[in-house]
Amino acid sequence: MIKLNVNGQERAYDGDPEMPLLWYLRDELGLVGTKFGCGIAACGACTIHVGGSAVRSCQTPVSAADGQPVITIEGLSPDGNHPLQAAWRDLNVSQCGYCQTGQIMQAASLLKDTPKPTDADIDSAMSGNLCRCGTYPRIRAAIKQAAGVTPKAQGERL
Ligand code: FES
Ligand code: FES
Repeated sequence: MIKLNVNGQERAYDGDPEMPLLWYLRDELGLVGTKFGCGIAACGACTIHVGGSAVRSCQTPVSAADGQPVITIEGLSPDGNHPLQAAWRDLNVSQCGYCQTGQIMQAASLLKDTPKPTDADIDSAMSGNLCRCGTYPRIRAAIKQAAGVTPKAQGERL
């Protein structure tokens, strides 16, 4: 039996331990904010936090989360007002939106470890998260606003 804590709730799982965590979250728990993109850890759409670190849930077996806290976009903030979520709204970052939960979860991991990131820090942390709509300049601006590197509503409006 695998025991996890998902967004603050204790969960137990007794299925295939090698099943990707992404399937467990989406299909068994109904947490569909986390997206399936490539399935080979190459796009970042499925990014969540396990044990406090950003991971690609499409290539992470459920067994790897045994005993670990798991946070998805649904659990990042109790009210959807994490500073990154607020900045994303302020700067209208999303286009189709498909990649954006993964982008926000990756950015949240960056800000936890590096609260005042430089452009180079942002590029390094975010380079594995792809966006077919090309929202990269807005993502960078929103991360800087959320971090207080640029003032609210004076981010690089793009
Ligand atoms: S779906 Fe997991 S990295 Fe693309
Ligand atoms: S907003 Fe469309 S893929 Fe990123």
